Amino acid sequence: VTAEKGGYEHFMLKEIHEQPKAYRDTMRGRINAEGNKVILPELNMTEEQIKNIRNIQVVACGTAYNAGVVGRTMIESLVRIPVENDIASEYRYRSPIVTPETLVIVVSQSGETADTLAALREAQANGAHVLAITNVVGSSIAREANDVLVTLAGPEIAVASTKAYTSQLVAFGLFALYLAEVRGTQTEGQVAKILAAMQALPEQVEEILAQKEAIKGYAEQISEHKNLFFIGRGVDYAVAQEGSLKLKEISYIHSEAYAAGELKHGTLALIEEGVPVIALATQEAVLEKTVSNIKEVKARGADVLAITHQEHLTDLLRSVDQVFVIPKTLPMLTAALSVVPLQLLSYYASLALGHDVDKPRNLAKSVTVE
Ligand code: G6P
Repeated sequence: VTAEKGGYEHFMLKEIHEQPKAYRDTMRGRINAEGNKVILPELNMTEEQIKNIRNIQVVACGTAYNAGVVGRTMIESLVRIPVENDIASEYRYRSPIVTPETLVIVVSQSGETADTLAALREAQANGAHVLAITNVVGSSIAREANDVLVTLAGPEIAVASTKAYTSQLVAFGLFALYLAEVRGTQTEGQVAKILAAMQALPEQVEEILAQKEAIKGYAEQISEHKNLFFIGRGVDYAVAQEGSLKLKEISYIHSEAYAAGELKHGTLALIEEGVPVIALATQEAVLEKTVSNIKEVKARGADVLAITHQEHLTDLLRSVDQVFVIPKTLPMLTAALSVVPLQLLSYYASLALGHDVDKPRNLAKSVTVE
């Protein structure tokens, strides 16, 4: 059994460590030799169709939904097409406004999630072109979609999704750049800069994995708590949502992810002495604002761990209790790195509490009923 787990104690830990490979495999063959162009010959979408897209709806469940929230920021910032995120089980029943110029992107690791498949059918019935981002080539979703962009994460066994999520981020990055090329919204130089940063991600994940003992120690501390919070702004907020979901799924510790600026409208009432708050603070453009939100929770006794870049340390040090530094990347790509310590955190918290890491209670890897 340890052989199929590649020597790791659990599939989840193995899959966390496979992320550098999943990044490389998902990018392989999709970037030209000069490193300034994305090539996606598998797409059926014509240039004309791409030029005509007026809005995009990203529909998914669970972790795949969380990846779509990051995908939205990539597409909106690089291509300036309005993007909405929808939970698949909501999308079907809200009479979504779809036109022939709407691109619907469904995201699904397994390609078999019933709600996502039903949303795909709903979108097609309304005339949308559907692109599936999936990890399983022969899946129902891959077969029914008009276009498929495969993530090459390899089989994911643990119920808590890790390498599928991060590969979905890379797929979104590639697709957003591809749209930008066709629609002429980014220069070759800008595309090259982003692609270079994407190609550096595998090694940067290795650097984070080398520090896993630090996360293990922190996980043991938080495993004694009943409640905790994740806060952040922009991409950091999107990652906070995924970190919170991961922790709930396998450690059963209750947590909430909050947009840092929204705390004062309610959740701040829950902050008291000793409550752990994990603050993601990688986004330079809003760093000062995030620091002031961290001070608000700190003043009420929170115990704050910040996940940030080295260069932001001086702004943060006086307001936090602990820091975890992640390597520098472009602001739109930080999710691909900052989620890794959060995956390790939920893994080690679950382990410390003696839970079945790979098979959490009440959950299934793929939910094929509504
Ligand atoms: C289940 C899994 C989650 C997953 C979600 C969507 O709830 O436990 O980890 O994110 O389904 O799965 P999909 O295969 O569509 O990405």
